[in-house]
Amino acid sequence: MKRYHVTTFGCQMNVHDSERIKGLLESVGLGEAATPDDADFLVFNTCTIREKADERLVAHLMDARAAKQRDPGKVVVVGGCWSESMKDELFDQFPFVDLAFGPGNIHRLGDFIQAGGEIPRGHFSTFDSFAGDLPLKRDRDYQAWLQISTGCNCNCAYCIVPSVRGREHSRHPDDLVREASALAADGVRELTLLGQNVNSYGRDLRPAVTTSFAALLRALDAVPGIERIRFTSPHPKDMRDDVIEAMADSPAVCEHLHLPVQSGSTRVLKAMRRTYSRERYLTLVERIRDRIPDIALTTDIIVGFPGETDAEFEDTLTLVDEVGYDHAFTFVYSPRRGTDAARREDQVAEEVKKERIQRLVDLVQAHAARRNAALVGTVQEVLVEGPSRTDPSVLRGRTRANKAVNFGGEATAGELVDVRITASTSQTLAGQLGAPVAV
Ligand code: 5AD
Ligand code: SF4
Repeated sequence: MKRYHVTTFGCQMNVHDSERIKGLLESVGLGEAATPDDADFLVFNTCTIREKADERLVAHLMDARAAKQRDPGKVVVVGGCWSESMKDELFDQFPFVDLAFGPGNIHRLGDFIQAGGEIPRGHFSTFDSFAGDLPLKRDRDYQAWLQISTGCNCNCAYCIVPSVRGREHSRHPDDLVREASALAADGVRELTLLGQNVNSYGRDLRPAVTTSFAALLRALDAVPGIERIRFTSPHPKDMRDDVIEAMADSPAVCEHLHLPVQSGSTRVLKAMRRTYSRERYLTLVERIRDRIPDIALTTDIIVGFPGETDAEFEDTLTLVDEVGYDHAFTFVYSPRRGTDAARREDQVAEEVKKERIQRLVDLVQAHAARRNAALVGTVQEVLVEGPSRTDPSVLRGRTRANKAVNFGGEATAGELVDVRITASTSQTLAGQLGAPVAV
């Protein structure tokens, strides 16, 4: 039996796409290899969101080239966003690559491999169907991703994603409820809805289908067996009251919201084309906290967007203080090919960006530590994932707020248990098993 190995880069959407890639490869008779060295098909599912992602990938591709020099029978396949962004240049720069495809063409991979023997070189682009109907190979029995939409109609000045994942397409709500029910029947308890902009879901289906994101949340909440629902990522501009109400009303929807802000300066937000101001974002946070008081808020922040002044960066720091995030992913701006911001001449100097990110990371950590410390002494519902990777004598799981907890006691993966929180850091919680949560 020929064997494959998939190396995945990037976001959860890509991790999920890799589950489809694996499912597809197995459906045409390939088996999974434990390491790239044991594999006949070396598949890379790539990301291109920031410069660093590109650099890491190139290092991996060089290893693949060396492996292929040792064993010319190996087939190198490059899928995902970077592949799409490179188009045919990919074959000019990396001639040892046999096959490349973009995130909208995963289903074509099976055809290629099934064609057998000689694999023609090819690069497919543009979206032609959802991977949602493809076979799926999941790592965890009790957690699953559900891709509700693909692509993005936003026009953020820094972002390469719309050019690689295309316009937004939403899946039909009936298909989504069916898939969620099938997953629940298969033992899944936690669903994470995925989309580049989840809460603009459904607009492209109108007028034939009028299901909004809020209505979709309610429909999925009603699926028996699904006890936790998360989603990533929503856009603040589409975070309307009906979504907040649906979150508050739906018992399965977790008390956690990842709400990317990107900057605390209204001028920078405008230059980024985010279409909201600092004030509107803060008002939104207030409305959410009014309705769901204990909600955990996380975000994405970029420092050093072209033209960002010291004072504008300070605005980001004060916004972080005002919101008091549970966690934030912080990024140094990096120019991406084809984006408007990359063409600007007022790029911020590297040393300035470095200094800013350090200050931001310190502040974010201080808030995370404070928010986590406030949970010490409380009892949290935890979905058990199994033994901790760093210390197998304790278990690991996540709270509804998506915080990692290491805890003592006996429980099996996939169980929902009560854990009394006894200690915290800015990154994790520690605790002790209590009584099981009645469900
Ligand atoms: N430079 C730095 N960070 C970026 N992001 C997107 N594009 C860039 C870029 N060019 C960040 C945003 C987004 C997250 C997924 O990646 O914060 O929300
Ligand atoms: Fe990377 Fe964005 Fe593609 Fe996800 S969608 S893999 S973050 S480029």
